[in-house]
Amino acid sequence: MPETLKIVLAGCGGMSAAWLKTAQDIPGINIVGLVDIKLDAARKRKEEFALSDALIDTDLNSVLDATRPDIVFDCAVPEVHVDITLNALARGCHVLGEKPLADSMDNARRMVEAAQHAQRLFAVIQNRRYIESARRVQYFLAQRHIGKLTTINCDFYIGAHFGGFRDHMKHALLLDMAIHTFDAARFFSGADPLSVYCREWNPAGSWYDHDASAVAIFELSNDIVYTYRGSWCAEGLNTTWECDWRFIGDRGSATWDGDVNFQAQVVARTGEFFSKHRAVALPEIDTTGKTGGHDGLIREFIHCVRTGATPETICTDNIKSLSMVFGAIESAETGHPVTIL
Ligand SMILES: NC(=O)c1ccc[n+]([C@@H]2O[C@H](COP(=O)([O-])OP(=O)(O)OC[C@H]3O[C@@H](n4cnc5c(N)ncnc54)[C@H](O)[C@@H]3O)[C@@H](O)[C@H]2O)c1
Repeated sequence: MPETLKIVLAGCGGMSAAWLKTAQDIPGINIVGLVDIKLDAARKRKEEFALSDALIDTDLNSVLDATRPDIVFDCAVPEVHVDITLNALARGCHVLGEKPLADSMDNARRMVEAAQHAQRLFAVIQNRRYIESARRVQYFLAQRHIGKLTTINCDFYIGAHFGGFRDHMKHALLLDMAIHTFDAARFFSGADPLSVYCREWNPAGSWYDHDASAVAIFELSNDIVYTYRGSWCAEGLNTTWECDWRFIGDRGSATWDGDVNFQAQVVARTGEFFSKHRAVALPEIDTTGKTGGHDGLIREFIHCVRTGATPETICTDNIKSLSMVFGAIESAETGHPVTIL
């Protein structure tokens, strides 16, 4: 493994700034190329981050051939994640890409197979896992303070006036946002998705062209039922972007508002109409290396490339979160429950 890792970043739009900011602070990596179909976008990032040695171009393959990087960062739009990832893997690069892994399950499977064939790391940014309080909630649940988890409910209500592509895209809430939430449900439960029934609609007063609200019921492994209710056009009483969660176990319940408010009660004594409960606090844990959103995930990925370790959001695992999104969409379109493979 070379001491300095060479990196090409593809897609120099909004998200790329966060990636380049982190890359600047990690020792031993060098951004050798910036690619965007809009050359001006690549030029802008080159100047902004003073990447004087970086090649800029509109064509990824010619930059890969000229610079022979170890890693490709894919911050482009979802429709081109497949081409960027397949081309990078074919040239022996490791790939860290923005969510969602792919724009369809067929493309996602091709990408996962290509990574396995190339024996390279391909992982996906799921930055909302790398929030300190989320990691503490996951730890709390894994310690079985409320017993065996049976039920998860979560609400996502944000009145977001993006004014851009999301206002016009189909399944904007499920495709663009719910991937974070569904991935979080897998993270919290440690379970895999088995089936989903979903209803999507566009409520009166919506400023979106297509359905911006959805309700989904998932069956997860370990006999867990997970319900999701969400809307991107709910005015007032907004939840956090991380959602409002309730977890029910066979010995108690916990709620988390996606921010600092966490409550849990476990059974202290039974035998009467209502059991007696006692409060349990969210434990303090060492989350070193597993927080900081994008920053934490990018650092972990670089560490894994150097050491041969496996990133938490490796494609073989992350594809399960994507299957929840496409399962929900298929159910909403057909009106039937869908088995998730
Ligand atoms: N993790 C998060 O919280 C989060 C938040 C926002 C967006 N995202 C994801 O980040 C990705 C980018 O989103 P964005 O908001 O930066 O979008 P954006 O539209 O601002 O930027 C995308 C860029 O990709 C470029 N591009 C398109 N096709 C390309 C190609 N073939 N090769 C190279 N560049 C190409 C576009 O010209 C554009 O500059 C998406 O996958 C999106 O879902 C993640």
